[in-house]
Amino acid sequence: MRAPETGSEIDGFRLGELLHVGTMASIYRLVGPKGPLPLIMKIPRLGAGERSANVVSFEVCRQVLGMLAQSPNHPTLIAYGDVETTPYLVMEYIEGARLDSWIGRAPLPPEESARLGHALAIALHEIHRQDVIHLDLKATNVLYRASGQATLIDFGLSCHRHLPDLLAAEFHTPVGNWVTMAPEQIAGERCDPRSDIFALGTLLYEMATGRRPFGTPRAAWWPARRRGCRKSFCIASRWMPASAMGRPRKWPSISPTPGKWRSRSAPHAARGRARQRSRVAGSTRAISRRHCRRRRQPMWRPCR
Ligand SMILES: Nc1ncnc2c1ncn2[C@@H]1O[C@H](COP(=O)(O)OP(=O)(O)O)[C@@H](O)[C@H]1O
Ligand SMILES: [Mg+2]
Repeated sequence: MRAPETGSEIDGFRLGELLHVGTMASIYRLVGPKGPLPLIMKIPRLGAGERSANVVSFEVCRQVLGMLAQSPNHPTLIAYGDVETTPYLVMEYIEGARLDSWIGRAPLPPEESARLGHALAIALHEIHRQDVIHLDLKATNVLYRASGQATLIDFGLSCHRHLPDLLAAEFHTPVGNWVTMAPEQIAGERCDPRSDIFALGTLLYEMATGRRPFGTPRAAWWPARRRGCRKSFCIASRWMPASAMGRPRKWPSISPTPGKWRSRSAPHAARGRARQRSRVAGSTRAISRRHCRRRRQPMWRPCR
């Protein structure tokens, strides 16, 4: 199915600027008679030649966003179209900068990493509180509003405790981002909020050091290793460097003032075994907050 043209109308919504074309969906800004509206439309790529995960993830995103109570930490779902006839999601447009614009400049000063990490931990804590696990936390799925609040987007791979897990039912290989994916998620577990804490840890690590704690895994060769092996840590230990199973490789010392946040929080969050990780994003958040308070600095400074 070809992506619709800018200017065309779908169920009374007029498509404006094309914001994004991905492997799963295209995203348009919506326009009204007086110009752009604070709304976007996400249209999944369906039809011949497209991945079957697209339709499942569209349905998951619709269900999960529909269940979440309104909050600045995720976009509000406004309308959606039927998956069989006109599939689309209309949601709030988040005006802000993406986390990858900061990570591109990493290593960031400790205060800036702490502020970004703190806001992100709050957002994660908020969705976990509402029984949602994101499971695709990466820099391009986090937007920061001008107020400094982090907003999580792209709930297509997420899991809601009270909804059937369509992705687990449909696919036998994990889907998501290899760089930030927790070992238990690679092994097929999709029900542990600590998988998001692991991803948060890898992002914190990259913000603070400019490096990825476990490098850049290549997705192509891991399924062969997984075949016949169901024990999560057996798989993960083949996939990741041995050091990753306990804690990330040695925490590099960049400046003499890393504070407790950098020396404790990120390595703790990115530990390989879920039980070694903090149970709630809130505890990572608390450490980063203490760090900022001690230094008497504001929690937020916008990206320039
Ligand atoms: N609600 C939104 N407000 C503003 N920009 C958005 C919104 N949703 C998505 N985007 C932009 O589109 C990009 C891709 O969106 P995403 O939902 O992650 O699509 P995909 O499923 O292809 O990864 C995001 O990185 C962001 O830049
Ligand atoms: Mg995305």
